[in-house]
Parts: sequence; structure tokens; C-alpha cells
Amino acid sequence: MTLGIIGAMSEELEILLKDMIVEEKNTKANMVFHKGRLWGKNVVAVVCGIGKVNAAICTQILISEYRIDKIINVGVAGGIGTHIYPGNVVIGNSLVQHDMDTSAFGDKIGQIPRLDTYDFKCDAELVKLAKEACDENKDINSFVGRIVTGDQFVANVEKIRWLSYEFEALACEMEGGSIAHVCYLNSIPFVVIRSISDNANNGAHMDYQEFVPIGVKNSTCILKSMIEKM
Ligand code: ADE
Repeated sequence: MTLGIIGAMSEELEILLKDMIVEEKNTKANMVFHKGRLWGKNVVAVVCGIGKVNAAICTQILISEYRIDKIINVGVAGGIGTHIYPGNVVIGNSLVQHDMDTSAFGDKIGQIPRLDTYDFKCDAELVKLAKEACDENKDINSFVGRIVTGDQFVANVEKIRWLSYEFEALACEMEGGSIAHVCYLNSIPFVVIRSISDNANNGAHMDYQEFVPIGVKNSTCILKSMIEKM
């Protein structure tokens, strides 16, 4: 079994790469794929860059060229709702692309036109393992729910209210829904684990700078506990 691990930014994979025994390094589509062993498992870890296009290209390379069996996306996200704070972890069980809009044709916003699903469901077994990992790390507050994705850094109270109302989402980020989409098309199990770096409100960019390190620490911690169980 080989696991693909995707982070959007180098900061998000920094801690993990320090622990990894890298056996092979290849650059494809301007992304560096690290193949080797991590916490006792075969993995390919890669920083995909920010946004849906980067994430989709990266996911397809992991599937087609590295023949990975499962994918985990880790990193930070904006929290949606007053009960979610920076440092908390959100395990995605469903992903929707909030910037996909063909409502002019009667589709619900988020629906990929002509696709037989509205949301992309994370693999139940991977979600269960992530939850168990959270239970073991009791100092990290965690939630399970929908994560929404779009090519936007959300820093607007109106927008988060809308994301909450329209999608009942717990977190927003810029890659998970696209990784989920590619995994769905290829029938590859996946899960998205995100730690909150900001509350996607008007001061989000300031909080983001401050809380990314703690967010990365927490999501890596959950990932480690989870991988050790696999
Ligand atoms: N990643 C971290 N915070 C985010 C935000 N507020 N919007 C989109 N992606 C994010």
C-alpha cells in the first residue's frame, strides 16, 4: 500500500518531510514528489501549490504515475462558525467546490454540471482512522464535517455566513475539493484533514500569518497518529 500525501504549501509538509526517509525525488509539473518511508509506511509526499488547478494536476500524477492507493490532504483552512477556533482540526467527510456555479441552468451551487454526485465523500475508513487519531490527541479540539473549496482566500464575514448557510460547511480552503474531485473520477479513497489558521473573516490574513505554524503542528500530529494505525 502506498499513500499519497498532499500539502498546498511547503510550510504544510515541512515537519513531515523532516521525518521522512526520502528514497527518490522527482520534479513533475513544477512539483517535487518525495517517494520513501514515513512513520513505517510507503508514501509519496508532495507540495502541490495553491489552488484547484495545482491540486488537480498533482492528484492525477500521484494516481497515474505513482500508482498510490489512497490520498490524504493535510494543511490549514479558514474556520466557519463561531465555535471553531484557530488550532482546531476539521476532518472532512464531504467536499464541495463553492465557486462552481451553473445555477443559471437550475443546478445547486457547488454541483459539477453533469456529474452524478453533488459532494465528494471522503473514505469512511480514513475518516474513522482520523477520528481515532483525534481521540488520542485530546489537547487538539476536532470536528468532522463538510469542507468547501474555491480559488479564493476567504476574508469576509458575509461570505462565511453564505458558506455556512449554503453548504453547512465547517471550513474553507483552496485545494481539498479539487483533490476530492480527481479521486472520485479515479475511484481512489481520500480524506482531507485541515487545521484552522483563521476564521475567514475580515482579519483572516492577519490571523493566518500568526496561526499557520500551530495549525501545521496540529494537522501533522493527527496525521502521524493516523498513519501509525494504518
Ligand atoms: N486557508 C486558510 N485560511 C483560508 C481562508 N480563509 N480561505 C481560503 N483558504 C484558506
